Amino acid sequence: MIEVTGLTKSYGGFTAVDDVSFRCEPGRVTGFLGPNGAGKTTTMRAMVGLTPPTRGTVTIGGLRYADIPNPGRHVGVLLDASAQHNGRTGREVLTIGARTMGLPDSRVEEMLELVSLTGPEAKRRLRNYSLGMRQRLGVAHALLGDPSVLILDEPANGLDPAGIRWMRSLLKGYADRGGTVLLSSHLLHEVEQIADEMILIGRGRIVAQGDRRSLLAERHTGTLVTAEDMDALTKALDAAGLSAHAAGEGLSVEAEPVEVGRVAAAERIVLTDLRGADGGLENLFLELTADTQREGNA
Ligand SMILES: Nc1ncnc2c1ncn2[C@@H]1O[C@H](COP(=O)(O)OP(=O)(O)OP(=O)(O)O)[C@@H](O)[C@H]1O
Ligand SMILES: [Mg+2]
Repeated sequence: MIEVTGLTKSYGGFTAVDDVSFRCEPGRVTGFLGPNGAGKTTTMRAMVGLTPPTRGTVTIGGLRYADIPNPGRHVGVLLDASAQHNGRTGREVLTIGARTMGLPDSRVEEMLELVSLTGPEAKRRLRNYSLGMRQRLGVAHALLGDPSVLILDEPANGLDPAGIRWMRSLLKGYADRGGTVLLSSHLLHEVEQIADEMILIGRGRIVAQGDRRSLLAERHTGTLVTAEDMDALTKALDAAGLSAHAAGEGLSVEAEPVEVGRVAAAERIVLTDLRGADGGLENLFLELTADTQREGNA
């Protein structure tokens, strides 16, 4: 339904999105996951024609976004919940959207109810909206035209726990009815709970993609280890000829935990964490994007 092929976006000499290709299928929620600055927003902006790509194409239902007639009826988009005019009320924003798409005003009330914005809140101006309220309004706006594809950039940002749960069931229900959902997040936990498929991006490149199970199955075994004295551990592993690289706060080592434990014990190094590298998606995420993280990359 959404097909991204060889998408590249460069700003001067800097490549923000580098030869990215993936598909999002109907009936599935696809999570687009990566650390800050990985290129998620840039990719999504390119999908809807807001950022002209340097190379590559994106089609939605076989058409480029710009060629879709009345696009709001086919593709719901939430990129920046703060991008609406601050002086308008929530209801006005939705009403303008509804009229542009040729929808009855009753649709506005339906959407307000769907996202749980109350009557008084809908009358408030956007400058006085909280982040979570903006986000809810953004979702209402995206769903207004009853589209079959949703493209949402960090939709859970600013939502309270109940709001996140609500969003999850809303999007799952939408996909169950045959919709295509692409949503981005820099929080694995958020994506993990909702996405059927995951695309991991780091520094503009796709580093892994697939469903949860195949992502975990594909990975090589190894050990994740953290010590009180990381320098000493790094030296000891190196001296023992075990190859290691930064992963989150610790090291990912290409060896069994027992081997790593022996090296540490021989050097009297205190380990604070030692486990086989099947520690779930979080480790996979940190590992795959390790050289693109700002932190934990000593
Ligand atoms: N107009 C622009 N000019 C120059 N660089 C840009 C521009 N837009 C984005 N970038 C750069 O492209 C990279 C990717 O940015 P992008 O906003 O796509 O990241 P992101 O994955 O959405 O991150 P976040 O999780 O923080 O939202 C960043 O390094 C950013 O500074
Ligand atoms: Mg972003």
